[in-house]
Amino acid sequence: MPDSRPTTPPLPKWRGTPSYIAADDLCATVNVAVALGRPLLVKGEPGTGKTLLAQAIAQGLGLELLTWHVKSTTRAQDGLYLYDTVARLNDSRFGDRDVRDVAQYIKLGPLGQAFERGQRGERVVLLIDEIDKADLEFPNDLLHELDAMRFVVAETGREISAAVRPIVLITSNAEKELPDAFLRRCVFHYIEFPDEALLGQICRVHHPDADEKLLAAALRQFLRVRALPELRKKPSTSELIDWVAGLRLAGIDPDKLESALPFAGVLLKQERDTQRAAKVDFAKLSQRRF
Ligand SMILES: Nc1ncnc2c1ncn2[C@@H]1O[C@H](COP(=O)(O)OP(=O)(O)O)[C@@H](O)[C@H]1O
Ligand SMILES: [Mg+2]
Repeated sequence: MPDSRPTTPPLPKWRGTPSYIAADDLCATVNVAVALGRPLLVKGEPGTGKTLLAQAIAQGLGLELLTWHVKSTTRAQDGLYLYDTVARLNDSRFGDRDVRDVAQYIKLGPLGQAFERGQRGERVVLLIDEIDKADLEFPNDLLHELDAMRFVVAETGREISAAVRPIVLITSNAEKELPDAFLRRCVFHYIEFPDEALLGQICRVHHPDADEKLLAAALRQFLRVRALPELRKKPSTSELIDWVAGLRLAGIDPDKLESALPFAGVLLKQERDTQRAAKVDFAKLSQRRF
């Protein structure tokens, strides 16, 4: 029997994008997850580019991105579809729509939309962002649909089945441990905090016309701050990018950055950390190599 499944052209290898700098191990894991058709679960410190990764994968592979931001109250069902009973009730009393046609009150959620696009033979990227925000049952409730890539709308009996699997990226800030059964079905990657060279490249992408000397000095001072012992919250990549923007706007002299920490509040967000940094003799620290 001929295979009637829709075929899509093979995807090119993903290697990051001009505006998203990805380490080699991250590129390799993304490509493995895509090839296996498994969800990619990405963990890492806040600000290490987990959410932006989904956009970069979509952009790099020329696919559309659908996003599902998870909140503490999100249920798995919300991702599949919602049945808008209130609209139907309103229509039955005041509207002129045929309320017997229940299908018009079914609103597909991001997961449902990704499957529907797959049913039409279109591959999309689906981001399930911050899965650890919801309660512990949430990942378990998703298991079956993510495995089968299909579901049935109970109210209409319509089956939506993704012949072409969406590329699913799931992010977690590791606030909660995820269930083993869920982990088993994913490809996992931990985004390590970037090393100095990678951080430099990321900064360059966001500040392409910044003064080389200022960027280098800012990066060194940022790494000194991150290396301070006992910080409650270490500053992240996104904070470094903001800090460099602030330094540029204020026209800070790069030489000053060896001994001072201007706009400390852009990097440090805890009172105890700013107090701690205020006591540091950065001039002395900058003499040391670390
Ligand atoms: N690898 C990277 N390449 C380019 N920009 C990055 C990268 N990592 C982080 N950033 C910057 O940091 C910001 C925060 O990234 P985000 O994806 O929101 O982090 P997370 O979701 O891990 O908290 C991004 O908007 C971007 O400006
Ligand atoms: Mg994020």
